[in-house]
Amino acid sequence: MLIDTHCHLYDEAFRDDFDAVLARAREAGLEACVMPGIDRACHDALLATADALPGFAFPCIGLHPTSVGEDWQEELDFVRQHLGDRRWYAIGEIGLDEYWSKDYVEQQMRVLAEQICLAARADLPVIIHLREATDDFLRVLEEVRGVDFRGVMHAWSGSYEMYRRLLGMADFKFGIGGVVTYKNAGVALALEKMSLDDVVLETDCPWLTPVPFRGKRNEPSYVRLVAEKIAQIKGLAPEAVGETTTANARRLFNL
Ligand code: NI
Repeated sequence: MLIDTHCHLYDEAFRDDFDAVLARAREAGLEACVMPGIDRACHDALLATADALPGFAFPCIGLHPTSVGEDWQEELDFVRQHLGDRRWYAIGEIGLDEYWSKDYVEQQMRVLAEQICLAARADLPVIIHLREATDDFLRVLEEVRGVDFRGVMHAWSGSYEMYRRLLGMADFKFGIGGVVTYKNAGVALALEKMSLDDVVLETDCPWLTPVPFRGKRNEPSYVRLVAEKIAQIKGLAPEAVGETTTANARRLFNL
């Protein structure tokens, strides 16, 4: 059995064939998926999906760095205001993204630090999105030093050295997805040395589709391809990868 710890199942990419996507996911051995929020705009669709699939699709709330713009204060207030509404499974996805835009880097850093503190107070994990902003991320981690939080580095593609460094700074797991199946993926090298106890599986569907479906829409059933690739890299049976990563995900998100 497998858990997809990063699944945008509420995305409109799945609107037309939702039931078929779900059937394939269950057939592939998926027992649960964690759905990260992005901003106010996705909130209703995310909750509708969570309510339609109790015990399977677990909702999260958070302000994504690429949604930090002019109205960032209203967006952050929205997260604060809705935190007490229901049971959430993480604050996420949150983080820094200097690939798409550098216009609001300062605000992204502040929004990230505040949401890490919110998560610590609520005893929830964080889901971290980090793209081309490692130095600023390390600055934020310094800023929140002493805050007792846990979380997952989503779509992890860093080096073994950075993995070790981050483990020394907070209680992190590392989300491995379709990128690991790409030719010359650096993360495959890092994975050889990483402990499977630090790894959770994810798809980030409908994006980051694994080989051999790269270029098409990603979907939750493809998490199985990620498990198989990790098994191949670590010289383990896919079932062993499933068992360990599922236990890691259950513990991290309290599923
Ligand atoms: Ni995502």
